Amino acid sequence: MRVLGIETSCDETGIAIFDDQAGILSHQLYSQVKLHADYGGVVPELASRDHVRKTIPLIQAALQEAGLGKDDIDGIAYTAGPGLVGAILVGATIGRSLAMAWNKPAIAVHHMEGHLLAPMLEEQAPEFPFVALLVSGGHSMLVRVDGIGSYQLLGESIDDAAGEAFDKTAKLMGLDYPGGPLLSRLAEKGTTGRFHFPRPMTDRPGLDMSFSGLKTFAANTIAANGDDQQTRADIARAFEDAVVDTLAIKCRRALKETGLNRLVVAGGVSANRHLRSQLAELMASLNGEVFYPRPEYCTDNGAMIAYAGMQRLKAGVFEPLVVKAVPRWPLDSLAPVTDTLA
Ligand code: KG4
Ligand code: ZN
Repeated sequence: MRVLGIETSCDETGIAIFDDQAGILSHQLYSQVKLHADYGGVVPELASRDHVRKTIPLIQAALQEAGLGKDDIDGIAYTAGPGLVGAILVGATIGRSLAMAWNKPAIAVHHMEGHLLAPMLEEQAPEFPFVALLVSGGHSMLVRVDGIGSYQLLGESIDDAAGEAFDKTAKLMGLDYPGGPLLSRLAEKGTTGRFHFPRPMTDRPGLDMSFSGLKTFAANTIAANGDDQQTRADIARAFEDAVVDTLAIKCRRALKETGLNRLVVAGGVSANRHLRSQLAELMASLNGEVFYPRPEYCTDNGAMIAYAGMQRLKAGVFEPLVVKAVPRWPLDSLAPVTDTLA
């Protein structure tokens, strides 16, 4: 069976074809980063219009890359939320319309389910149950995962997501959008310990997180110490250390609370090298395992949507003749997928 996946929830158009025997057959990605760079962030209406231009050509390219035609596709999965509603509507409408024209089922996929299942595309795939740390530009959450659709929210950010905190701090340090990876690169030249940022919400019990105070801390540190190149790198280092430490502390707590020793880390920030090495140390100390998607499946992509769509299609979970597009959609409102037909 093969599923075509369509991702358009933010500033990346991602299209992929997943085959349940052979894995990913094609993977097409177009990033709108250049389009939004002048504005310092994603402009929703520009994002929607660019998805209109790119989605169909990328679907054609994905079919060509795999050497397939419409008759070789068994279902069409599209991101139905959460995200920018105009951007989602483009992929949702194209996906739903193609499904109708090709007489195939359409599957409305939750974007964060896509992220959390992305490590399943790797050779070393995690088994259920596990704890997932989802850290993207829009969300930071810890989830207990017992199976496809069985998601228990353990904690989440009460303000900025981890990626958003990276991007906002990078912006106030004069780095281009999206600043997360650039800030991380700058941090590599910084000295650990010259500045110490707080580890928010780690001094009290619970798994919720808060990252918005760190950008203010960064702004105040710049104001007090100037912004020569080494100071900027030292501030970036202190910021990244604070985010990574906080996430590691929360992961340790979530694993202790659930009694699990498998950790999945996904979403754009899971590409962060410092986060990866610290979580590797944590899991080694706990005799556990940590799983990641490969770097191109950490940030938004069509492969994770095609994979999540396949799991639902196999279980007979697909949509009636409607277009689903929701800007807000709690992950733990999904129903467990139990009766897998495969
Ligand atoms: O998952 P994603 O592609 O999009 C959303 O669903 O939001 O995540 C994008 C986020 C951005 O905030 C970006 O700055 C951040 O992930 N990011 C990073 C790194 N790579 C991407 N943050 C820190 N270090 C990185 N290496
Ligand atoms: Zn995402």
